[in-house]
Amino acid sequence: MSRFSRIGFILAAAGSAIGLGNVWKFPYMTGQNGGGAFVAIFLLSVVFIGLTVFLAEMILGRTSEKNPVSTYESLAPHGGRYWKYAGFMILSGVLILSFYSVVVGWLIHYIFVSLSGLPSSVSEAQGVFGELVSESIFTQVFFHFLVIGYCGYILTQGVKQGIEKINMILMPLLFLIFIALLFYALSMDSFGKSLAFMFTPHWEKINANVVLMSVGQAFFTLSLGVGTIMTYSASLPKKGNFVSSALYVAFLDTLLAVVAGLVIFTFLFEFGSDPSGGPGLVFISLPVIFAQMGLVGQLISLLFFIALLFAGITSAISLAEPLLGYLIERRSWKRSKAVWAVMGVSYALGVLAILGGSKAYGESLKWGGKSIFDWLDFGSSALLMPLAGVALCIFVGFVLDKNRVYGMFGGYMPPFFFKIWLFCVRFVAPVAIFIILIQGLRG
Ligand code: PHE
Ligand code: NA
Repeated sequence: MSRFSRIGFILAAAGSAIGLGNVWKFPYMTGQNGGGAFVAIFLLSVVFIGLTVFLAEMILGRTSEKNPVSTYESLAPHGGRYWKYAGFMILSGVLILSFYSVVVGWLIHYIFVSLSGLPSSVSEAQGVFGELVSESIFTQVFFHFLVIGYCGYILTQGVKQGIEKINMILMPLLFLIFIALLFYALSMDSFGKSLAFMFTPHWEKINANVVLMSVGQAFFTLSLGVGTIMTYSASLPKKGNFVSSALYVAFLDTLLAVVAGLVIFTFLFEFGSDPSGGPGLVFISLPVIFAQMGLVGQLISLLFFIALLFAGITSAISLAEPLLGYLIERRSWKRSKAVWAVMGVSYALGVLAILGGSKAYGESLKWGGKSIFDWLDFGSSALLMPLAGVALCIFVGFVLDKNRVYGMFGGYMPPFFFKIWLFCVRFVAPVAIFIILIQGLRG
């Protein structure tokens, strides 16, 4: 069995964690929820809920060295007759992958837009985005195909030659681009305003909804509840402080979200644009601002969308791997067969999502007032992921014997922190995630 190197694991897990969630979702959620208040609650959620569940997934994967289904089965008492069903989490990866890769495809389109000329007004930018999503079915299907095909190709190369290698290349490049963007933002007058916007908590802006959104975001951004971290941890090096690896990954993921936010808000403020634009932030507001920066702006736009593309690819790859592990280990499929079957399903679902978003077919492809895009997102983020999270916490916190769990840390967890962590696994995390689940179901 091939294993990650220590740095390979950190970059692969960071590659999974750092994605559209950091550069797209986090900034627009921060903008919509008044800045600092959201950021403060988000940071707390990352530490007490995100990191908690991250470590829980890690110790299970590291101990079993198997796919999530077999992990539950082999660790549960009574042969895991029921607990193995908690491994269903591997299915949400494929659901997310199908629309996630469509959005990654949009990034390729925006790389071309950066090259050929950016929209110079908001209405023009809305036109560019609107046309892509509602008219250009072929463009979307084609770029989606490229994304799925490329990710599939990387995945056929396996953990070491595929996943580790691509992350060792793309992640340093991504960091370099963001360092460059940060320095450019630092040279602008509005950087201070951006800093203040993100780090001055206006406590009066905190309400139940802000808390729920930050908890959900902490969960999504760290790639939890899909079995990705569990699956990657099955290939951890035999020795080495994996708890500190987890800290690095959570730190890098948070850092990238914060830097992306700082850069984006600096640009927005510098050109007098509104930070509360919602999901259109990256695809509508930003391109207009890049256009106003002239030639430099075009270069920045190019770098920005390339970085986002890299971030998206490394996350997309990680969404498929848990199910691949299952098909290869439990169904004895050859890796290539498993890869192309899973990628084929994601491709088909993604095409449906594209059709569902188009003007021509959108109305006929709706159920219960939700588009296919919304259903895929709802089924995974609102339903399966939180459910998997709660199951995981109960399993680690109550089903497994406490001493055994302590042993799974292999001496890398100081007893004092273990106590805090155990309390979070037993109570803080499952209760918070359960509330998200209920809230999500109520719509
Ligand atoms: N963490 C990724 C992001 O922030 C998304 C993701 C979720 C990837 C779950 C893998 C598993 O964009
Ligand atoms: Na993330």
